[in-house]
Amino acid sequence: MHTNVWYVDENVDSEKVYPQVVEAAECLQRNEVVAFPTETVYGLGGNALSEEAVAKIFSAKGRPADNPLIVHVASRPHVEKLVSHIPKQADKLMNAFWPGPLTIVLPGGKSVASNVTAGLDTVAIRMPDHPVALALLKAANLPLAAPSANLSGKPSPTTAKHVIHDLSGRIAGIVDGGSTGVGLESTVVDCSGDHVTILRPGGVTKEQLEEVVGEVIIDPALSDEGQRPKSPGVKYKHYAPTAPVTLVDGSPSYLQSLVDKRRAEGKKIGVLATEESKATYRADVVIPCGTRADLISVANRLYDVLRQFDESDVDEIYSEMFTHEGVGAAVMNRLSKAASNRVIKE
Ligand code: TXA
Ligand code: MG
Repeated sequence: MHTNVWYVDENVDSEKVYPQVVEAAECLQRNEVVAFPTETVYGLGGNALSEEAVAKIFSAKGRPADNPLIVHVASRPHVEKLVSHIPKQADKLMNAFWPGPLTIVLPGGKSVASNVTAGLDTVAIRMPDHPVALALLKAANLPLAAPSANLSGKPSPTTAKHVIHDLSGRIAGIVDGGSTGVGLESTVVDCSGDHVTILRPGGVTKEQLEEVVGEVIIDPALSDEGQRPKSPGVKYKHYAPTAPVTLVDGSPSYLQSLVDKRRAEGKKIGVLATEESKATYRADVVIPCGTRADLISVANRLYDVLRQFDESDVDEIYSEMFTHEGVGAAVMNRLSKAASNRVIKE
């Protein structure tokens, strides 16, 4: 399949009509799938009302069918058509954080194609805060089911180049609107029950949510391997570069000693460092992932850094760790998955 690339300035006016966006929207209306930028990561969009379009998303990504998709909308009236009702807490969260990196699980998926929700009686919805995404949603005039636009298991794409690397030839097109903002996927909160529960940490932090709705619970399955997560996608191997990743809970000099030992045994070793520490390491590849002083920069760089290790020939990767405070919760959630929870403590 030929994959079209449409270049669109990331600062478009989402109220205006652009010929490239219209072409991409027409593809979506024909139930083809098209990747597009959001403020978190690139999404692979398809008509959420069409089984055929949604099936193409799953097959392009190689995604397990029991992992439901997020539905993206450009306006509140679109949400009302897709759910049985909007609980009060959900309404508050929409007003506070939409458009933005917050996905809300709502009761009763009405009218969305059955393969979007993987048989659940809830549907996850978000309004992205990116002018290109909003322009595309408006031009298509459809709710778009869109998982991250990577091959299943790989780090999510934060540039069009990442999407092309994974999906070229497998999808109808990609709207290239430059690099994404946050760099990690949206926070997923469940508002379909009695409590507001975080199913996946992301750009909107627990602290920010609590300012709006009071107490927020974290799905216990996020910290306990034995539990079955409410967000089915959370259980899969994720974000992993080809070389195994190990997190090091200790000082840079301890991390260096692990690197030295493995290099003495003939292994090529990569280190995921920070701007503050990069000069202190001796390894085959050292890549800084933002600065410790600004965790948002770490979130921003993480997936690109994991993909850069894939382009090197390292056998193993050792990574520094970060705080769980604020956006650090999302960073550590993704890093732990990239490392399949392997941690060495000093
Ligand atoms: O930032 C994002 O959320 C990006 C951009 C493209 O919007 N999308 C994204 O989609 O990360 P994906 O498919 O990679 O992750 C969707 C997550 C999965 O963990 C999935 O299990 C969960 O949302 N999810 C979807 N529908 C759900 C539902 N009804 N109940 C619980 N979890 C759900
Ligand atoms: Mg994903």
